[in-house]
Amino acid sequence: MNRASLEKRPEEVAAMFDDVAPKYDIVNDILSMGQARRWRRIVVDAVGAVPGQRVLDLAAGTGTSSEPYADAGIQVVACDFSVGMLKVGKRRRPDIDFVAGDATNLPFADNSFNASTISFGLRNVIDPKKALREMLRVTKPGGKIVVAEFSQPTFAPFRTVYTEYLMRALPAVARKTASNPEAYVYLAESIRVWPNQDELAHWLTEAGWGNVAYRNLSGGIVAIHRATKPA
Ligand SMILES: C[S@@+](CC[C@H](N)C(=O)[O-])C[C@H]1O[C@@H](n2cnc3c(N)ncnc32)[C@H](O)[C@@H]1O
Repeated sequence: MNRASLEKRPEEVAAMFDDVAPKYDIVNDILSMGQARRWRRIVVDAVGAVPGQRVLDLAAGTGTSSEPYADAGIQVVACDFSVGMLKVGKRRRPDIDFVAGDATNLPFADNSFNASTISFGLRNVIDPKKALREMLRVTKPGGKIVVAEFSQPTFAPFRTVYTEYLMRALPAVARKTASNPEAYVYLAESIRVWPNQDELAHWLTEAGWGNVAYRNLSGGIVAIHRATKPA
């Protein structure tokens, strides 16, 4: 398999998201065929934060995944290392606290959030296991982590069509049609090589999280992993 587009340095990933920032949310809605909104509601319910609590939304991008917390009166910190994505977010939602920071070296004190969450971002982090350890460090004992990420469809025939045909075809189609094909090549390849549900659950346990569980959405196209920081 051609992994060329995955062999990126962190600054190249940030630059790629800087480029897609202006159209990020609209392309997201189209690619997920409207499912993204439902997935996001389920993530917010899983975090289960209440007003007065502080939530870290890591790899928050333009802040679309952070908005529901702010709307519910929860103090949310939207952290990302793409300044382009943060600027689009700040323009749209000046009330949200956007912070530039790298997931593998978070600019926050130990035990400073009631919950940490990351939506469609862990897959993009060059060292995702380190990010899971950093999220543990900044979360209070007894606090939660919720990870939403593309995963492996559970129905075998569909899994074959999805990973062997759709995810292989997307880069070729993008190279011919898209104005920024590199971003789509990267999207498809990063989904194809990402660990399945059980393996990601194992990563969470390895990082020190307890009570790890997950739930499949849209037949496993997306999985929501939940865990708590041991008290
Ligand atoms: C697909 S976007 C997801 C944005 C948002 N969470 C959402 O659900 O729409 C992935 C984000 O991960 C960010 N990212 C990737 N690696 C990162 C890192 N090491 N530290 C911080 N952010 C990172 C990118 O800049 C990008 O904004």
